[in-house]
Amino acid sequence: MEAIRIRTDQAESGMVVATDVYTPNNQLIIPKGTKLDERMITRLRFYNIYGLFVYKSDSETEEQKDESYIEMLRSTVEFKKFNRTYVETVNNVEDSFNQVINGSSEFDVDTLLADTDRILREGRNGAHIFEMLHGIRDYDDLTFVHSLNVSLICSIFAGWLKLSKEDSRVLAMAGLLHDIGKMLVPKEIITKADKLSGDEYEIIKTHSIKGYQVLKDQPIDIRVKYAALMHHERCDGSGYPNGFKANQIEEFSKIIAIADVYDAMTSNRRYRKAICPFDVVENFERDGFLKYDPGYLMVFMERIVNSYMHNIVRLSDGREGEVIMINKLALSRPVIRVGSKFVDLSKEHSLSIDAII
Ligand SMILES: [Fe+2]
Repeated sequence: MEAIRIRTDQAESGMVVATDVYTPNNQLIIPKGTKLDERMITRLRFYNIYGLFVYKSDSETEEQKDESYIEMLRSTVEFKKFNRTYVETVNNVEDSFNQVINGSSEFDVDTLLADTDRILREGRNGAHIFEMLHGIRDYDDLTFVHSLNVSLICSIFAGWLKLSKEDSRVLAMAGLLHDIGKMLVPKEIITKADKLSGDEYEIIKTHSIKGYQVLKDQPIDIRVKYAALMHHERCDGSGYPNGFKANQIEEFSKIIAIADVYDAMTSNRRYRKAICPFDVVENFERDGFLKYDPGYLMVFMERIVNSYMHNIVRLSDGREGEVIMINKLALSRPVIRVGSKFVDLSKEHSLSIDAII
């Protein structure tokens, strides 16, 4: 069978992997011959893997029934209104970024944040806004959409962390501007479908320093400038550009690192069924505690998981049940009531949650 190279954002459930897939640290995560599912696609995003080889296949229809959840969300009046405000705001973000990069004006921070506030007011609560973000269809230009999403996630996260009003504002702004340096990286590299060469990856990595340079003379809080510089630093020293460790990374940059990878894992929605938040949390539980600040990460994961209490889920063996208890020590593996039985996923390792339904 013929193998083709695809970007991770083109990966779909049912595709068969044609070569072993490794993380940047050479850890095998998906062996050749594996049929992709949403859980694995989330994992590819967690590791920032740009692309992979798959066999040409026609088995994409089997996951169709999971479309209903997201399609149902998209058909609500509430979502349509949210979507309209979102699209307007993305356009404003794009204009504003272009003006700053061209040097034609300074940031109009108040206007930009007023726009994001408008989006936030259209959701019932943080978890509901996360749900609606999952429903937003994809755009060609990922930088602006990603920037807006990270800003929205940061605003909600700030509330969960009980930050002051002023700090919440700074964090939302830091989320909005963290990737602005990508506008100074050649677009062909950012959107390239084929595997990036080592040199090209090094060029992408320069966006953090470039972002800092764009922002350093703007009249904005220093934490916003640091966030552009440090959002790819990791607490274990494995990040870039400086390989800083936990005590050297500015606090807001640690928060943005989590919001950034969360959006990466849940993005590119056009071809996707509903995101399973338990997969996202499972990835963080498995590989996140050394890389990300454990205190911030726990708050984030607990909030996400708790918002799905009493939702109906489908298990990997096809049974359906209700989430009735969250396991604090295994957040991605709650207790599910299936009929009159209780299935504790923290003990039943062969089972997992396939989808929220
Ligand atoms: Fe970035």
